[in-house]
Parts: sequence; C-alpha cells; structure tokens
Amino acid sequence: MFGFGDMIEILKKNPKRIVFTEGSDARILEAASRLLASNFLTPILVGSVEQVEKAAEESGYNIRGAQIIDPLHYDRIDEMVELFCELRKSKGVTEEQARGILSQANYFGTMLVKMGVADALLGGATYSTADTVRPALQLIKTKPGYNIVSSCFILVRPAATGENEVLAMADCAINIRPTEDELVEIAGVTSECAKIFGIDPKLAFLSYSTLGSGKGEDVEKMRNAAQKTRLKYPGLPVEGELQFDAAVSPRVARTKCPDSPVAGHANVFIFPDINAGNIGYKIAQRLGNFDAYGPILLGLNAPINDLSRGCNALEVYSMAIITAALA
Ligand SMILES: CC(C)(COP(=O)(O)OP(=O)(O)OC[C@H]1O[C@@H](n2cnc3c(N)ncnc32)[C@H](O)[C@@H]1OP(=O)(O)O)[C@@H](O)C(=O)NCCC(=O)NCCS
Repeated sequence: MFGFGDMIEILKKNPKRIVFTEGSDARILEAASRLLASNFLTPILVGSVEQVEKAAEESGYNIRGAQIIDPLHYDRIDEMVELFCELRKSKGVTEEQARGILSQANYFGTMLVKMGVADALLGGATYSTADTVRPALQLIKTKPGYNIVSSCFILVRPAATGENEVLAMADCAINIRPTEDELVEIAGVTSECAKIFGIDPKLAFLSYSTLGSGKGEDVEKMRNAAQKTRLKYPGLPVEGELQFDAAVSPRVARTKCPDSPVAGHANVFIFPDINAGNIGYKIAQRLGNFDAYGPILLGLNAPINDLSRGCNALEVYSMAIITAALA
C-alpha cells in the first residue's frame, strides 16, 4: 500500500523544514500555501522577499508564515562561503568564486541543508535535473558506505482489487550508463525504497533478451548484474536478464522462463541505462495511467529531490512530503 497518510503522520510527530529553490514559482507557492495550512512541514522559499511576496499576491496564494531567504541578503552568508570553500577546497575554489556560486538558488538552497537550516530540499520546477542534482553531489555527497547517488520512481495506480498497484523503476534520472556493480547498488537501494512504499520487492533486470534468448554486451551486463545482486542480497527475489513482457506477464513468463519465481510478477524494474529508464517510466505514466513520484534520490547523505519541470502544484506538494518523510 502506498502510505501517503502514514508519511504525513510521521511528519506530524516530527515536523521538518523543507527548502524550495524556486521560491517565486506559482506551483511552489501553491504547494507552500497548502503546507502552511497544516503544520507538519515548514516551507523555506529561496528568492528575493519582494519578488516572492509579489508572485504570491499575484497568484493569490497565502504564504504567511513561510520563511523567505534571499541569497543576496543572507545574514549567515560569510559562514556559508567559508563552509563552501572548505567543502570544495580540493577544487581550489576562491572566496570570490564561492560568493558568485552561492548567489544561485540551487547551490544556496543545498548549503542551507548542509548547514542544518533546512532538513530537506526540493528543486527542479525550473532548474534541470542536472542543475538540481549537481550541487547535492558536490556538497552533500553519498551516504557513508555508498558509492553512487542514484534514483528511482514510484509508480502508483488504482488496481481492480480496489488496492493500489505500486511499482518501482530505476535508475531513470541520474546515472547515464551504470556499470554492472553500479546496477547492483541501484538494485539494493531501490529495493529498500520500494519497501518503504509497501512493495514486497521482486526484481527484474530488464533487457531485450530473456535468459540468453538474445546476445550482446548489454545482455551480459544485465545478466551479470542480476547474478551479483543475488549473491549480495540473498533472500531478495531477483531475475535477469528479462524482457519486460516476461517480467510482468505470467502467461509470457510461463513460455519464456517457466521456472522463475520472479518472472511474470516483477514489481521493481532495473533498467540498463537512463535512456531505457527515463522512457520506460514516462510510458507507464503517460500511457499506463500511473502516477509517478520521483525521481527519489537514493544514496545521498541528505533528503534532496528533483521535480520534473512539467510538474504541477499537487506533485510539488506530494514530493515535498515524500522528501521530508524520508528524512
Ligand atoms: C547527475 C549528473 C548531473 C552529474 O553530472 P556532472 O555534473 O557532469 O558530473 P561530474 O562528473 O562533473 O561530477 C560532479 C560531481 O558529482 C559527483 N558525481 C557525479 N555523478 C555522481 C553519482 N551518480 N553519484 C555520486 N556522485 C556523483 C562527481 O564525483 C563530482 O564530484 P566532485 O565535483 O566533488 O569531484 C549527470 O550524470 C547527469 O546529467 N545525469 C542525467 C540527468 C538527467 O538529465 N536526467 C534526466 C531527466 S530526469
């Protein structure tokens, strides 16, 4: 079950502050006004106070109670610059360069999380994924014990049973061409995330081939990654390489791989690269009527997430709750 209400309950017990890097965007303002009407997640809006207030007034959203922080007039900017230079000292960043970089909302917002001013960050309403994620990769880094930051989408649609059908797909947004070992890490973190959303994970490593029916480098990569995942996470149901039909259709699975306990019933899909993953989740969303939540960043040392630039205010609100609850 997709436990959205559960996430709100978690936040009610432990309220958080979330920074929005695009403080004057109408969709952000609408989501912020909705969050302010409850008291489990406080928005921090990055931008010029005048511009944010004017945008809120023009779009008719009440953002009274929101903290607005202007990167150009921040009382802790010297401390932030010093910390930034320390974090990027291996790159030889000068104080002057740091001041320039921190005048940009994506870097400034990420530093607010790093400094503990905010618990979480949501950006990307106007910034590209790369521009939202890069500051996090550079400043927040991976959690101890993790080698990469990756991402997954959680896809939800009502099922005929009356319950929701919930799936996970990865990595559709960050790693362009993951290696075998990176796919193993992606599989592990995606399974953990899937469990949070009530999925009992059954993993399919997707390909254009099912258990040796096709040949090629990419086929071998997916087969080897599946095998390595099995060894690393004994007990986690994993199959691969699988074609998508064999992964989800019990009828096709009976023909193509009758002995597999995963084939025909997979609910966590590991894609060979970002092309396949990004196209795949959007097909599910646009033609399969799934709501898509994500990309949810995994392996990052703080809860920071990216919005699609085509997002609406409801998606901003939902992703804000997911991001903060995962904190
Ligand atoms: C994520 C992404 C932005 C990083 O690319 P980049 O900025 O060119 O990255 P670089 O190789 O210059 O690395 C920047 C920093 O991030 C780190 N990094 C890059 N990828 C990383 C990853 N997957 N996990 C952890 N750290 C990573 C690098 O080590 C580097 O750290 P450093 O500056 O401290 O040395 C890039 O992989 C990308 O564009 N991915 C696709 C995004 C996209 O368009 N998605 C589709 C829409 S949803």
